[in-house]
Amino acid sequence: MEDYSSDPTFPKLNVYPLHWRFDNEAAWRLYRRAKREQWDEDEINWLKLREIASGLDRKQRLAIAYWWAMLSNFDNATPVFAYAVVKGSEMHAHNAVNALLTTITYDENRHNLVCGRSIDAVFPDFPNFKPQDEIERRARLNVLWTWYNGSRYWEAYLKAYQKYSMDVLFTSFMMGEAAATTVFTGASRNAKVDQFREAFKNTAVDETRHYAFTHLILTDAASRMSDEEKKLVTKQIRAGFVFLSLITYKKPSDFWKLPPWFQEVHDQMEELAREAGLGIPTADEKERAWRDAVIKVGAALKRYGVKMPAIPELNVTGEEIEELSEEDVIPVF
Ligand SMILES: [Fe+2]
Ligand SMILES: [Fe+2]
Repeated sequence: MEDYSSDPTFPKLNVYPLHWRFDNEAAWRLYRRAKREQWDEDEINWLKLREIASGLDRKQRLAIAYWWAMLSNFDNATPVFAYAVVKGSEMHAHNAVNALLTTITYDENRHNLVCGRSIDAVFPDFPNFKPQDEIERRARLNVLWTWYNGSRYWEAYLKAYQKYSMDVLFTSFMMGEAAATTVFTGASRNAKVDQFREAFKNTAVDETRHYAFTHLILTDAASRMSDEEKKLVTKQIRAGFVFLSLITYKKPSDFWKLPPWFQEVHDQMEELAREAGLGIPTADEKERAWRDAVIKVGAALKRYGVKMPAIPELNVTGEEIEELSEEDVIPVF
């Protein structure tokens, strides 16, 4: 029999009881900005894109679809952030943090729809098609194996909530958001097809805001973090580089399980898509974008006593991180 004369005892890790906090003006300001900066992927003229695509040859269309399918491996982040909303609510994160997570969920849904819409306009049903030659067969397998790695990442992500605090988790997203910001800004500058330029420009606006979110979490959490947690963040920043390098730089040597021809076929596809006006940055531009992102994140971390990991691929020195296993990879676009 319940004792109704006293307060009920709520279970731990539950979305009840409710509580409202309206302090933390910086977080609420970012939330208001998120609402103001919303855009509609239906405003992009997909019909026009279909028309443009009909003037391209099959290999170019295939290459463009290939690139968007690759990107969607990283923009399939709706469930990632939706799950964060559930976890954030259960752990009673600040209301503004949960509110921001709902906006990021919506943003990522839009990003992934842009991937799907682009594929649908240029090469419907990709990657479910019958390859006509060896390069098509390999390109298709590149995509499927990349998605397979996405599934490994998803399993690690679900487990991460048992291992890390939300502060550590969200700060881990920092490298990814910073890289996304620079890459999409570059792509919007390079793209020759209007529809792609528009999509990249708008996506860059979202990713800039996502980066601001991770920065906000870091600013707020750094003083509470133990040395052990700070070390974890350093490791996760490295994991962010490894995970996202596949599309934003070149195939890393750890974590990924991919066919031996991956990089060669990937480069060929990117070159074809670039010629067709997609706006993929060149190798030099990618390296510069990463370096900018690393400098930006490094400066932010340093201010809060978190060390930067070594990134030998970019000649960046720092804390040496041993080979990463799949449980270590939890960053997101
Ligand atoms: Fe995204
Ligand atoms: Fe993002």
